[in-house]
Amino acid sequence: MRAHIAIPVALALVLTACPKKDATTEAAPETTEEETMPTAPPPEEVDPELKGEMQVHFAYAMTAQAAVVAGDLDGAKAAHAKLRDDEAAHVPDPWLPLMADVKAAASEGAEAEALVEAAQAVAKVGRACGECHSATNGGPDLATSPPSQEWTEDAEMLRHAWAVNLMWLGLTAPNDELWKAGTVALAGDDHTSGSALADDVAPRFKEVETRVHEAAKLATDTTDPDEKTVRYAEILSMCATCHAILREE
Ligand code: HEC
Ligand code: HEC
Repeated sequence: MRAHIAIPVALALVLTACPKKDATTEAAPETTEEETMPTAPPPEEVDPELKGEMQVHFAYAMTAQAAVVAGDLDGAKAAHAKLRDDEAAHVPDPWLPLMADVKAAASEGAEAEALVEAAQAVAKVGRACGECHSATNGGPDLATSPPSQEWTEDAEMLRHAWAVNLMWLGLTAPNDELWKAGTVALAGDDHTSGSALADDVAPRFKEVETRVHEAAKLATDTTDPDEKTVRYAEILSMCATCHAILREE
């Protein structure tokens, strides 16, 4: 059988229009400034262009993610290279070490030699995004961020992709509830029954699908960023494995 997996970038970019939290634009009380690492600079020093830059980084990360899901190693490497090479001109100096973590992870992704490594890089990038958002009280506004927290039959995104994007938001915002919601949806979803699969590949698919379900169950109660990173990478590479089977056919 022959099936073409083209995962539209537009699909992956649905999360780009994320209004932000208001916390970073308000003067943080001096006491909390000392508690956060690194110290967030006073709001007037936060470049208004930072938001736009964030959306660009976000788009690169989502493009890398979608490429991994589609089994496209070169696409994932190219998107990671863009993230690695991005100037990040609007990130305030005190936050640059956190940005460096993102770039280090992106750099691994740009050099990845297998999809599994690319999946790990996507997860590490996501984790590094989340670290900075936690430290700066920045990040996407979860009240308004797509993907919507309910999935419907007529949703543009396949349920698997939607669930993985919820997990991504759970990793990067970071937010444990969204992470959990994504894993629960993924654990219960049958992604392939609607597709006409040749008899010879159907059992291989079944096996990968079962592993996805098991990995999602294991991930459900995870709140530790390290473990989230590992689980996310594991699941993402299984998406890639299955789609790669389709490409071989
Ligand atoms: C150096 C710290 C830092 C890093 C690293 C970082 N962010 Fe952010 N991010 C912020 C801050 C601070 C804001 C809030 C910006 C504002 O409100 O002006 C933000 C906001 C956002 C927003 C909301 C943008 C909007 O339009 O309101 C998104 C989406 C986002 N980040 C995604 C990401 C992704 C994806 C990554 C990793 C590739 C990432 N960020 C890495 C600090 C960071
Ligand atoms: C068991 C095998 C299998 C697994 C695992 C799997 N997929 Fe798929 N995926 C498929 C099949 C089959 C199709 C549809 C091919 C067709 O009918 O054209 C598909 C298609 C897609 C598409 C593309 C739809 C389109 O119109 O281009 C997306 C997006 C997608 N899957 C996301 C995911 C994500 C995210 C994961 C990981 C959580 C995942 N898939 C895991 C088998 C799988």
